[in-house]
Amino acid sequence: MENISFNLNGNDVSIKTESSRILLWILRIDFGLTGTKYGCGEGHCGACTVLVNNEAVRSCQLTVKDVAGKEVVTIEGLSKNGKLHPLQKAFIEHNAFQCGFCTSGMILNAYGFLMKNPKPSRTEIIEGMNDNLCRCGAHIRIIRAIESVALQPNKDKE
Ligand code: FES
Ligand code: FES
Repeated sequence: MENISFNLNGNDVSIKTESSRILLWILRIDFGLTGTKYGCGEGHCGACTVLVNNEAVRSCQLTVKDVAGKEVVTIEGLSKNGKLHPLQKAFIEHNAFQCGFCTSGMILNAYGFLMKNPKPSRTEIIEGMNDNLCRCGAHIRIIRAIESVALQPNKDKE
């Protein structure tokens, strides 16, 4: 057992646990943040995507030790002062989901992608989202939602 500290959705947290435990399960079981989904468990689907130091990563492929001292953001931490993030609003406005299982991962992957490329072309969005899978086939609406945010002035994306 080890004490591992990190920042989770803006709060400093500390947990005493086996350092080899998978981050996805720490988030879901220990912190009750069930917006982060388990899809494949093998790094292929993106349902478990979270932000670590503002980069979209697959929480099923990280141990809790990997995020020691870092900033982790899950879908629960994306809204600010009770207001949804523009990506969350855009997904609702564009009906960019059906069952919603992929949605947290899609939004956080899009967030990480837009951090690196704030003014992407449609082709770049498609490429950037290519490794996140949606079994409901909402991809076209997902791309439209992300495109609508990419077209907003920078201050509106925060
Ligand atoms: S559950 Fe992590 S990539 Fe599928
Ligand atoms: S909305 Fe169902 S998996 Fe994407």
